[in-house]
Amino acid sequence: MTATAPPRTYRVKSFGCQMNVYDGERMAELLEREGIAPAADGEDADLVVLNTCHIREKATEKVFSDIGRLRRDDGTSPLIAVAGCVAQAEGAEILRRSKSVSLVVGPQVYHRLPEMVAAAALGARPVDTDMPLETKFGALPARRKVGPSAFLTVQEGCDKFCTYCVVPYTRGAEVSRGFADLVAEAERLVEAGAKEITLLGQNVNAWRDADGRGLEKLIEALALIPGLARIRYTTSHPNDMTEGLIEAHRDVAKLMPFLHLPVQSGSDRVLKAMNRSHTAASYLAVLDKVRSARADVALSGDFIVGFPGETEAEFAQTVRLIEQVGYAQCFSFKYSPRPGTPAATMDGQIATEVMDERLQRLQAAINTAQLAFNRQAVGKTCTVLVERKGKYPGQWLGKTPWLQSAHFGGEAAIGDLVQVELLEAMGNSLAASLLQKVPAQA
Ligand code: 5AD
Ligand code: SF4
Repeated sequence: MTATAPPRTYRVKSFGCQMNVYDGERMAELLEREGIAPAADGEDADLVVLNTCHIREKATEKVFSDIGRLRRDDGTSPLIAVAGCVAQAEGAEILRRSKSVSLVVGPQVYHRLPEMVAAAALGARPVDTDMPLETKFGALPARRKVGPSAFLTVQEGCDKFCTYCVVPYTRGAEVSRGFADLVAEAERLVEAGAKEITLLGQNVNAWRDADGRGLEKLIEALALIPGLARIRYTTSHPNDMTEGLIEAHRDVAKLMPFLHLPVQSGSDRVLKAMNRSHTAASYLAVLDKVRSARADVALSGDFIVGFPGETEAEFAQTVRLIEQVGYAQCFSFKYSPRPGTPAATMDGQIATEVMDERLQRLQAAINTAQLAFNRQAVGKTCTVLVERKGKYPGQWLGKTPWLQSAHFGGEAAIGDLVQVELLEAMGNSLAASLLQKVPAQA
């Protein structure tokens, strides 16, 4: 690689989960601290950070096709940084496969991005996929400007080793950020404009500080921050739903009535083969407890169809579980063999056509549940946090406490908390009418 001028503009493209969105924002802040500005819409950036996802198939191929598309008409490319979980998994191999890539940085060391960019501009091709003991968070700049709904990563990594999942390898072991550090970042997010904070972690409900405090204690502390109206958290594991956290759904008014709790399958045999260490019944028992703490809680889940060996009868158990729970929303995926995971070499890999067909049936069950959930909300009055303008002039979009998208017209502004009446349910959203603005500090 030859030397180039130091980049003046950047663009970060994040793929995959919300934790990557958070990391992407933090990388942007790091670059801006160095005087590198965001590229204007539609304009070429001098530096492009591809913040990649490795959770399902073709992620790596997608990265290489994105790299190809960054080549300019004159044959040159911007400085390209590959970050995120593909960077962690593939490391220097990425540099070998693509001459256009300038640097590779893993998710645990992106605080080193500025110095790597400087080295890359001088012609080096640095690779850093360390998982250092010290955390990157202390080295990141303070949060400055955020939207009304902000993310806060509180925990990273996973010790669960589900047999299909690459996360324990790409994000490493479970690590929790410290209590005081998190309260301070949350306060800065609120100063910077956040009304809602979603606590993030691959196993967010496994968050535990050095004194043994669990996530509910952090939620209770954040609920004391004036100006913060709503708290959410995602993604949780059923086995880490402690009594304390469940009780927080009853006791902490700012904790929204929503729980994303993946189950993956309704078949105990499949769950065992997935190493989920819970059964369908124990999962349902957790949901029952959460519902007794907070009757109106909206539930969400993740599902995988076509795990190796999944029979038609086992798949049918998953569909039945969806019908039984009455989810507000769900994410569903075709099983995707990930290199290095135990399931990738299991017998009984399922044909793509079978997976396609099962996914369709599963999604039909999910859509039915979601529409039913939205329909039962019609007639309710609730608060909505206005997040952005809608498609039509004068229309606003925001989220209900149950994480449904609601749209309405009238006098409002981004960041307002407003009271609305829900009028009409669609599959993915609700039409609402604006009643009044909720006074600050509500
Ligand atoms: N194949 C398909 N889906 C997967 N997920 C994780 N790994 C795989 C895989 N190999 C899904 C799970 C998880 C969500 C984030 O992604 O449902 O909860
Ligand atoms: Fe992956 Fe399972 Fe850990 Fe979730 S709990 S990140 S699915 S290994």
